[in-house]
Order: sequence, then structure tokens, then C-alpha cells
Amino acid sequence: MEKIIVANWKMNPQSLLEAKELFNSVRNWIKKNSNILQNVRIIICPPFVYLESLSKLLKTKSSRPKVELGAQDLFWEEKGAFTGEVSPKMLKNLGVKYVIVGHSERRQILGETEEMINKKLKAAIKMKIKPILCIGETLKERKKEKIFQILKHQLREGLRNLEPRTYNLKSLIIAYEPVWAIGTGNPCKPGDARKVLLFLRKFTQPLSHSSTQPLILYGGSVNSKIAKDYIEVGFDGLLVGGASLNSNEFIEIIKNVAKH
Ligand code: PGA
Repeated sequence: MEKIIVANWKMNPQSLLEAKELFNSVRNWIKKNSNILQNVRIIICPPFVYLESLSKLLKTKSSRPKVELGAQDLFWEEKGAFTGEVSPKMLKNLGVKYVIVGHSERRQILGETEEMINKKLKAAIKMKIKPILCIGETLKERKKEKIFQILKHQLREGLRNLEPRTYNLKSLIIAYEPVWAIGTGNPCKPGDARKVLLFLRKFTQPLSHSSTQPLILYGGSVNSKIAKDYIEVGFDGLLVGGASLNSNEFIEIIKNVAKH
């Protein structure tokens, strides 16, 4: 089975030059090592402002290694008076194939609600951009043993009215990202993450009317030393934040996942 590694650059790096350098160093390595990457797909999600230049870099190289572009967010309306927002079509026109939706930083810092996340998911699927829906509990919720309750709520509300018959949920990717593990250097232990994975597999089974189920990724302080542990317990891939900003470290993560 193919594994997916998503790089979420967040609000980094600070210049286009650095963005191109980071992108090219990962991409060139992938190109040279495509023989060991048969079963790995790499998706890089830079800030909006770098998407156009990076998509041009993808087009200019002759062979097509397995790197694709994703956005970190999108707006649900098609066009019009929505200052500061970016439409699904704008992303599509740049060659963006994936979009992160409902990241906990957007939920917590910008007050993104389940209703907004639901609209964004629908807009992405309608535009045939594959959404990566982020869900996860806070430390307080974990301590109160509310993990499954919270995840159920986020999935039910996020996916409200997204019937498999109308929306092609085959393209849905779910990222389990415990909020307390993001950017803290304190990842969720693979054994604990596995319990959540099994719950999510069961919960998402009825979402699909074909045999294809949503892919489920783990995210939260992933580094090259632990990356493979999540693959070993059954995750379909990883969502990597901080460690994706260092090309050597990110390449190590790719190498370790590729071995499985
Ligand atoms: P992190 O971020 O790897 O820096 O913890 C993950 C994420 O927020 O997607």
C-alpha cells in the first residue's frame, strides 16, 4: 500500500528563495531515489504565496517524481467579495491537488468552527482537490478521557451532509493530530495512536460505499527517529510540520517510511 507523507510548512520560510531551496533539495533527492520510493507519495503544503512559483518548478522538470502540491487552507465560496480569502478554483488553477482543512492552529487561533470546516471540505471535494481533514483532542480532553467523544464530534460535524453518494469520499484523507503533540516535541506514543487509529477505521467504515476507506495519517512532533513506528502500527502516512522545514531531516523521514 502506498504511504503518504505530507509536509505542512505552516508560515515558513520567510522568502521565496528559501522556499525554492527547500523544495528543490527535497525534490532533487526524490528524483535521484525514485527507485526506493515506489510506494511513497510526498505532498508539500507551502504558504499560498509560494504555490505559483513551486508549481512552475514542478512543471519545468522533465521527469515527474512523486511530489505534489497542497495548500494549507481554502475558502468555501467560489468567488467575490471575500477579502483575504483564496478560492478552490484559484488553487486548482495552480495545480494544487490537496488541501489541509481544519488544522488545530486554525481552529484554536482563528476560531475556525466545525461549520466552516464542513463548508471547506465540501468546496474542496467539489473542485476535486483532495482534503486532508485534521482532527485531534486537547490535553485537557485527553485527561478527561474524552478522546473518542471529541473525534466523533469533529468527524460528524466536519462531514455533515457529505453523503458518499453525492460526494466522492474516496479522496478524503484524515489526519489524527492530537493538539498537545503538535509542535511540542512530545509525540503521541505509537501504541496510543494505534488505539485511535482502530477507532477511526471503524468509525469511518460506513462513510465509504465502495471498498475504499479514507486514508488515515498521524501528525504531531513526528521526526525521523519515530516516523516508521506510526507506519508499523498501521497508519497510512504522516503529516509533518517542524521536521519538514529541514530538508535533511525530512528526507530521513521519507527514507524511513519508504523502507516499509
Ligand atoms: P509538528 O506539526 O510536526 O511541528 O508537530 C504537525 C502539524 O501541525 O501538522
